[in-house]
Parts: sequence; C-alpha cells; structure tokens
Amino acid sequence: MLSLFARIFVVTFCLCHLPITEQQYTPDWASLDSRPLPAWYDESKIGIFIHWGVFSVPSIGSEWMWWQWKGNSPSANIVAFMNKTYPADWTYADFAEQFRAEFYNPDEWADILAASGAKYVVLTSKHHEGFTLWPSKYSFNWNAMDVGPKRDLLGDLANSIRARTNITFGLYHSMFEWFHPLYLEDKQSGFKTQLFPNMKTLPELFEIVQRYKPSVIWSDGDWEAPDTYWNSTQFLAWLYNESPVKDTVVVNDRWGSGVPCHHGGYYTCSDHYNPGHLVTHKWENCFTIDKNSWGFIRTSGVNDYRSIQEILMEIVTTVSTGGNVLINIGPTSYGKIAPIFEERLRQMGSWLKVNGEAIYSSVPWKYQNDTINSNVWYTASKDGQSVYACLLVWPNSTSEISLGAPVSSASTTVSLLGSSGGPLKWRSGGASGGIVIDVSSVKIYSLASDWTWVFKLQNITPKKTTRKFKFHGKQYE
Ligand SMILES: *[C@@H]1O[C@H](CO)[C@@H](O)[C@H](O)[C@H]1NC(C)=O
Ligand SMILES: *[C@@H]1O[C@H](CO)[C@@H](O)[C@H](O)[C@H]1NC(C)=O
Ligand SMILES: *[C@@H]1O[C@H](CO)[C@@H](O)[C@H](O)[C@H]1NC(C)=O
Ligand SMILES: *[C@@H]1O[C@H](CO)[C@@H](O)[C@H](O)[C@H]1NC(C)=O
Ligand SMILES: *[C@@H]1O[C@H](CO)[C@@H](O)[C@H](O)[C@H]1NC(C)=O
Repeated sequence: MLSLFARIFVVTFCLCHLPITEQQYTPDWASLDSRPLPAWYDESKIGIFIHWGVFSVPSIGSEWMWWQWKGNSPSANIVAFMNKTYPADWTYADFAEQFRAEFYNPDEWADILAASGAKYVVLTSKHHEGFTLWPSKYSFNWNAMDVGPKRDLLGDLANSIRARTNITFGLYHSMFEWFHPLYLEDKQSGFKTQLFPNMKTLPELFEIVQRYKPSVIWSDGDWEAPDTYWNSTQFLAWLYNESPVKDTVVVNDRWGSGVPCHHGGYYTCSDHYNPGHLVTHKWENCFTIDKNSWGFIRTSGVNDYRSIQEILMEIVTTVSTGGNVLINIGPTSYGKIAPIFEERLRQMGSWLKVNGEAIYSSVPWKYQNDTINSNVWYTASKDGQSVYACLLVWPNSTSEISLGAPVSSASTTVSLLGSSGGPLKWRSGGASGGIVIDVSSVKIYSLASDWTWVFKLQNITPKKTTRKFKFHGKQYE
C-alpha cells in the first residue's frame, strides 16, 4: 500500500512540475501564445496602474503633454499656455529639474494600494517621453537618479510594496519614444534599421527585468512598427525561458503593430477595453479615474473623476465577462497620491472587504448579465457552489428584485453580502423561470456597503439557453 501510494505521489508530483521546468518557447507567436497564463493573474482581478513621470510636472493636457506641445499637430491650448506661462527658451527637459518628488513616501503609497484591495500594481517605468524612473544605464541624464528626484523612484516603490504588502509588482514600459533621435532615424528608414530597439528598448527591458523582477510587463508604444522591428518574440522567448521571472511573469499584447488583441499574454486591445460580453481569451480593462488623463492634471475638477459607483460598474462588468481591471491613478510631481484618488481607492477597498468573494478568484457564470434586470451582472465561485448577482442600482420603491437567469430549487438560499439580517426570502419567478428576491427586510442604510450590492445565490441553476462558450479551455453550456 505504502509503496503504491508513494509511486502515485511521485507520478503526480512530476506531472505537476513538468510543464513549468521543461517547456521551452521559441521566438514565434504560435509557441509564445501557447504558454498558460500564470494563475495568479486571473485570480487577482484588480490591479492599480500608476502613471508618473516628467509629465507630472506641467500636469496640463495629459501625460502626452510634450507631444501636444511639440508633436506633429500641436494643441493650440497647450502651445498658448506655454507661450504665456514659460520663458521663450523653455524646453520639456527643463521640467525634469522641477520633478522633485519631495513628499514621496513609497511606504505610504504601498499602504494606500493595500487598502484598495488591489492585488497587483503596474508603474510606468518609462513613458513615451523616455524619462526612466530608475537609474538606467541606457538613459543617461534622463532618469530619476541623475535629474529631478535624484532617487530610484521605481526601486523604492518595489521595495515598499514587497516589504509591506502581498501586492504583485509590475511595470509598464513604452517601446517607442516620441523624440528619440535613434527612433526617428529608424522611422525615417521605414523601420528597416533597428538602432533604437537594439540600443535602447531591448537593453532597458532586460535591465528592468533583471534588476527589479517585475511580475507584469505592460508593454506600450509599439504601434508604429511591426513586432519584428522590436524583436518582441525574441524578448518574450527569453522572458519565458530564461529570465528570473519566467514562471510568474505575465505580459500584455502591445508588442508591435497588428499584435494587440491577437498575440501575447492577456489582451488589452485598446485603452478602456470593456466589450460588455464574455471574451474567452484572458483580457484586461485599463481605465483612468481621472477621465481625461492618465497622468496627474492640475486643471481637473471633481466631475472629471470617476465616482466610486462608476468604478464599481467597471469592475463588475469586467470581471463578469472574464477580464481584470487595471485602475489608473496619476501621482503629483511632488510625490503624493492626491486625496481624491486616495478616497476612491479606499472606497474600493471597503467594498471589496465586504464583497471580495464575488470578485477575487471568481469565474464567469453561464450568464454574464441578467436577462430581465439590466442592472445585474453575474460571477461564480470557482467550485460552482455560489453564484453572485451584483446589483448596480438599488430600486427606488420596491420590496422585490426580480432576476431572470437563475432557476431556483427547493434548497435554494439567497443572502446579501454585508448584511447581518440572515438569508432572504425568495419565490420562484413562475413558469418563465427566474427568481424573485424579497428585500423588504433589508435596511439599506445600515448595510456594510453603500454601492453595488451582491446577492449570493446557492443551489440554483442557470436558465436553459442555447448559448455555449469556451473559457480557459473549459466548455460552458
Ligand atoms: C507663441 O509665441 C511665439 C513667439 O513668442 C509666437 O510666434 C506664436 O505665434 C505664439 N503662439 C501662440 C499659439 O500663442
Ligand atoms: C500576506 O499573505 C500571507 C499569506 O496569505 C499572510 O499570512 C500575510 O498576513 C499577508 N500579509 C499582508 C501584509 O497582508
Ligand atoms: C534583434 O534581432 C536581430 C535579428 O534577429 C538581432 O540581430 C539582434 O541582435 C536582436 N537584438 C537584441 C538586442 O536582441
Ligand atoms: C445583456 O444580456 C442580454 C441578453 O440577455 C444581451 O442582449 C445584452 O446585450 C447584454 N449586455 C448588456 C450590456 O446589457
Ligand atoms: C430613483 O429615483 C430618482 C429620482 O426620481 C431617479 O433619478 C432614478 O433614476 C430612480 N432610480 C431607479 C433605479 O429607478
């Protein structure tokens, strides 16, 4: 008995580990796309995006300010503002000296991020302006150690996140730089030469991976040139086969023109991608709390920021349909996360404390949104025992909430997360199926959460449908 048991154990053990240690990927999309996404990413569901850089100093227009000022079709507003406010010989590089980060306390950032309930963070290591938040060998005098903060902003955040939280650390990296002379030279050649990727993009990518071991590489700025120009598949084969993060790292899909939404790790497709229906390849909805900019903008008013209700709507609709959310904040040049961002993050954390079981590690249910109640989106627990109906808007004057998709049985139970009132009464929706939840006993003002209420349904089945889909290789009927 024992030896048989031992043999079974050894066989099982080996099977579990074979794919991770022995799989070698070749530098082509067919091979790279076959890599399973490390499980932590789908389970996390919620990440925070941080856009920080020299653009945080002017903090007008958006993080694209340099391009809006000096690019191909400048913004009249930005040009006029610069004319009026700065000396005639002022250059974008002069802003770097004013990037002081004098109140930057990465421990404080880590604590705010932890309080948000997010499970991963993605910091702009370098945006399209080219300024690196780490002391890069390949960005002489255009990095946070040589000018401005005189500090490894990136490394200090990585250390605080890792020392104080369980948040997974990741990095955004822009492949191109608007005005880099080598990039412009390659562009002139129709991207026949590869001066810029060979001397800048790729060395930088190797440098951040080796030095900071990020678990996310969120690539961007790829779209003007093909992946063959960027050597994307060669880089990813190295990342997956040999890098220090080969077993844990996840990447997105922005690795060359035509690649997004087709190849890479998870799909981001376009900014603020949230298609409203199930997408069977793992995807991410990145969106900003300040609707007008990813970087901090001094001119934003309170209505420019997404409310907590709007943020929760993004979370619920995204997670129901198979996505993760990456929610963006833009810190100030002086190193603070502005109170409005902090408030939104803490509100989200308080909601997740109550309702997190409907989000983290959840899987899509057979229905993503309800068939009769357009304010309800569904998720399910991995073991299939619980279905979560997330209600975006509490009805004004009703004691009942009707759902069309779930079919009840004699043993069905319904409860409201964060309510101390115990199970709710319900009745069957009748011949057409569905379920009617009696909420007359719910004291909405005394609930633990003020927005997006989650009903936990057990022992229910989905209403019959002819729709079928595949998700993570599993067939859903
Ligand atoms: C900005 O200033 C320059 C010279 O001072 C002037 O030629 C130009 O018309 C101004 N542009 C705008 C948009 O104000
Ligand atoms: C991190 O996760 C471990 C294991 O789940 C847990 O014991 C620990 O308390 C967590 N730490 C923080 C700071 O949340
Ligand atoms: C990029 O690919 C080209 C062609 O395969 C190769 O010559 C070059 O060394 C690669 N660059 C890097 C930095 O790996
Ligand atoms: C919700 O579900 C219905 C089918 O019941 C579908 O027609 C609709 O497009 C879905 N999406 C949204 C955003 O309502
Ligand atoms: C509740 O009433 C307010 C004010 O009359 C209205 O604006 C809102 O749309 C109503 N909400 C619902 C869910 O009916």
